[in-house]
Amino acid sequence: MTSNIDYIDKIPNNVDLGRDRVLQRALEHWQPAYMGWWYDMGPNESHNYDVYLRTAISVDPEGWAVFDYVKMPQYRWGIFLVPPTGDREVNFGINKGQAAWQDVPGEYRSMLRRLIVTQGDTEPASVEQQRMLGMCAPSLYDLRNIYQVNVEEGRHLWAMVYLLHRYFGRDGREEAEALLERRSGDVDNPRILGAFNEPTPDWLAFYMFTFFTDRDGKFQLSSLAESGFDPLARTCRFMLTEEAHHMFVGETGVGRIVQRTAELMAQHKIDDPDHVRALGVIDLQTVQKYLNFHYSVTLDLFGGDISSNAASFYTTGLKGRYEETKIDDDHQLTDATYKVGTVKDGRVADEDIPALNALNERLRDDYIGEVQAGVDRWNKVIEKTGIPFRLRLPHKGFHRQIGNFAGHHISPDGDVMSAEQWKARRDDWMPSAADYTFVQAMMSGRVVEPGKFANWIAPPRRGIHTQPIDFEYVRFN
Ligand SMILES: [Fe+2]
Ligand SMILES: [Fe+2]
Repeated sequence: MTSNIDYIDKIPNNVDLGRDRVLQRALEHWQPAYMGWWYDMGPNESHNYDVYLRTAISVDPEGWAVFDYVKMPQYRWGIFLVPPTGDREVNFGINKGQAAWQDVPGEYRSMLRRLIVTQGDTEPASVEQQRMLGMCAPSLYDLRNIYQVNVEEGRHLWAMVYLLHRYFGRDGREEAEALLERRSGDVDNPRILGAFNEPTPDWLAFYMFTFFTDRDGKFQLSSLAESGFDPLARTCRFMLTEEAHHMFVGETGVGRIVQRTAELMAQHKIDDPDHVRALGVIDLQTVQKYLNFHYSVTLDLFGGDISSNAASFYTTGLKGRYEETKIDDDHQLTDATYKVGTVKDGRVADEDIPALNALNERLRDDYIGEVQAGVDRWNKVIEKTGIPFRLRLPHKGFHRQIGNFAGHHISPDGDVMSAEQWKARRDDWMPSAADYTFVQAMMSGRVVEPGKFANWIAPPRRGIHTQPIDFEYVRFN
């Protein structure tokens, strides 16, 4: 195992793939199917573009990537794990203190496969959800960024498929094929998790998605990076280095939209959303509605508040808590409790449950803390312009389909309502068909002149890598 990546092989890797002929053949068999999926479901009409992309060349945190023009179908997707540390242990659960597993423990095999497949399924799903957005990109800079996210999600699929092929034999290979067969939003064969079947119809939705939903990815990968199954831990560690950029794209994308809107509001001294829209920018009320939607569907991805599956994943040592090894407790949670929200007597209330069963909720709370910090930074951008509007996270129970709040009708303020009351307010809280129509109409057509940006978004503060903002990030040929 070296930290440098071997690009001589057909499949770039740092796992010495050439020494394992059976595995190499299996992956080389999957590769054309993957390329078929990319041509069908990857970014629309993009195959011949030269895109200024980063490609991983090493798993060293220092200098791990190069930047250059690449045609996306020729992107070097491959298998990169951070190197083993040798003395790693299972750090939590009933197997705590054992040497970390280099092979799948037989009794945990199906649980582990399910974790890997569920994670793997999200990766191609987001590429499918975003495939039309290149056609209406607000700049070459943004176009390049969405393509970067897309190729790296493709690589994340490779990462999970490697684990399936290497450690799960025939059923792993079947699962790897199924990952290329499901389709986001398909009625007959949808992606596994709800948020990954929702459309991403415009660039505001894309930035919200990469801010909220890619961050769910970060938290899931972080807890899998704690896994006692060492190859999974090391795979997820490296995926996290790529994930950081996706969240950057989302946070700065929304930040640039609210900046542009708030600046125009201040300049023209207006606050009526219709007047704001008349200037060709997105009113902050609509931004808030998108936030409410993407936040709530992403909260569902963490699963039920009370979950025996989450307890088993933890007890067995397969999936830890966020930053498990930095937490100061017994790492077994035998007697610990944790607060989860619920609805009691028509009101939202907290209840204490065994911490082992509340691990989804705990991860969700860790996530919410980080998301809140991002929202605070957006509000700083608005504040600087002197506009009093503030974005905020709705109540955790708002618009939930999974967990204790599912089936209840909770307002953004946390009030429990009747279904009729809630429905009457729905379009105040989440994007209506008319809101989507407005946003999409504004985003028709793509801005292709280097250094130019659509009217509805501010330019970024700096370009990519060492390049200026007006660099030709995509060449259309
Ligand atoms: Fe990913
Ligand atoms: Fe991502």
